[in-house]
Amino acid sequence: MCGIVGYSGKQEAAPILLEGLKKLEYRGYDSAGVAVIGADRIRIEKVGGRIALLDEKTEGGKKLPGTVGIGHTRWATHGAPTDMNAHPHLSNDGRFAIVHNGIIENYASIREELLRDGYKFESETDTEVIVHLLEKYYDGDMKNTLRSVASKLSGSYALGILCSEYPDRVFAVRESSPLIIGIGVGENFFASDVTALVQHTKNVIYLEDGEFAVISPANIEVFDYAGRTVEKPVSRITWSVKAAEKGGYPHFMLKEIHEEPGAVKATIAPRIRDGEVVLDDLPFSEEYLQSVDQITITACGSAYHAGLVGRLAIEKMAGIPVRVELASELRYSDPIINEKTLVIVISQSGETADTIAAERECKALGAKVLGIVNVVGSTVAKLADYVLYTWAGPEIAVATTKGYTTQLAALYLVALFLGKQRKRLPEEEYREYIDEIDRLPKLMQDTIDMNYALPDLAAQIYEKPAVFYIGRNTDYAVSLEGALKLKEISYIHAEAYAAGELKHGTIALIDVGTPVVALCCNEALLEKTMSNVIEVKARGAKVISVTFRDEDEVIAQSDECILVPRTKTLFAPILEILPLQMLAYYTADKKGCDIDKPKNLAKSVTVE
Ligand code: G6P
Repeated sequence: MCGIVGYSGKQEAAPILLEGLKKLEYRGYDSAGVAVIGADRIRIEKVGGRIALLDEKTEGGKKLPGTVGIGHTRWATHGAPTDMNAHPHLSNDGRFAIVHNGIIENYASIREELLRDGYKFESETDTEVIVHLLEKYYDGDMKNTLRSVASKLSGSYALGILCSEYPDRVFAVRESSPLIIGIGVGENFFASDVTALVQHTKNVIYLEDGEFAVISPANIEVFDYAGRTVEKPVSRITWSVKAAEKGGYPHFMLKEIHEEPGAVKATIAPRIRDGEVVLDDLPFSEEYLQSVDQITITACGSAYHAGLVGRLAIEKMAGIPVRVELASELRYSDPIINEKTLVIVISQSGETADTIAAERECKALGAKVLGIVNVVGSTVAKLADYVLYTWAGPEIAVATTKGYTTQLAALYLVALFLGKQRKRLPEEEYREYIDEIDRLPKLMQDTIDMNYALPDLAAQIYEKPAVFYIGRNTDYAVSLEGALKLKEISYIHAEAYAAGELKHGTIALIDVGTPVVALCCNEALLEKTMSNVIEVKARGAKVISVTFRDEDEVIAQSDECILVPRTKTLFAPILEILPLQMLAYYTADKKGCDIDKPKNLAKSVTVE
């Protein structure tokens, strides 16, 4: 969702800002703009639509000369994605320009107050109140002004600010929305995430909530809202520039699918030592581990789907009751959570607003939080008591792929670890699981290699109005993610159903030729699922099964088969999802969809 960038240095700012915005495109947006301090005044260009349009309108930035500026990609919340609503916004006196990521919850009352004071509004956004507040409270000292303005605002905001009185500086403010400062030589940067910084520098400062920064070409000063200087540690980005590029693939999504075996290996391998799961990252005391009487997993989107698989693994291996709650539901549900609850919060970005709110709620109720997070230094990671990082590297495509499978890998590790620590998993079974988890990256690679014919299958479904996904237990959990992938990027209506529930409704929608993807890797329930397969076939469905390559009976009953190598039932989802991601990818490609940036969706959902 909204992305912001800022630059203060000796080079022309606009081309650097445009480049930065392109790197943030993946977050999801529908309008974009830049502002640069010129010789006489602040100049702004903004457009409803894609950055390419902004690039064209500014002639690659040439029309905005100046070496200090800010930029923005907007994902509309308050007001349509028009030119006027796009950021930056300018104060009536032209002295301030701002960009904003987040939501100002009390904007309506501030707007009324400002209208009474005679300020003129040009947009319908919540953001515009901030720029007029800056004008109203400006007393010649930006530090005071920022403090006064921040004290008026409630909600979440990362702000980038220009003030024409300080032509060599950009100002950055963080409150509940990510903001990272990049340290260069004779130039400095800021951005909503490191993908926009990594091509310039690997040295960064993570701003915390309630901090603001004054950034000039040679200096970065960070203050808290009380005006005290804050000494900030400098962190090193470990991601390479290459990791955030397509590397010859037509889309980031396809590249990221191909990275999955390596990403899962990076997540698992360092944590298996001498045949044991070793989680140095989780210094649980023996006493605490024995005291846990329930686990709550909370997350949004695909991370929630990963949690559904995680629940089955943890309950089976560790015997602890687990419930999985959507973060957006949990935060308002008076959850029964206490100090005996271990809460597992899963998030690729670590910045999903509902997930963060649920995490805060659980902590307030006394639970310990284990974060399974991909982005180092993100809010979910910072709030968590323990963090198990998924080492997926940067994920750029909006629809997650390696984010999801590395979350599964991390959850398998947690399940095995708890199973062993709580002495629930018999030693022999534990050994078998350890041997198998070690093999997963190789089995994932085999799965990708085996499924080269998926474009042909995609050609059979891309014109269909709906596709159904069915499965039981682990297969059901993964079918939800398979269906989500298809709808996210191909816009085909896709629905996952617990196979046993078919007869309670969905079977009424099965017609001649309706594609039904049947997940058939849960051996214990295979016969049951097969009876559902036969039922839908009898009504004309075209059954595409996902099954082990030696599962002859399933293969014989299906119209089409997607095959995966055999593995243990609990681990099958990490293989089954790969061809489902690829099927969604090739179907969307065949339809000519904007695969990496699907309409209306954002990578990191930073508002509720
Ligand atoms: C968005 C993304 C999904 C992701 C979800 C949760 O909807 O498009 O791919 O699963 O947010 O994001 P998180 O970063 O918290 O895992």
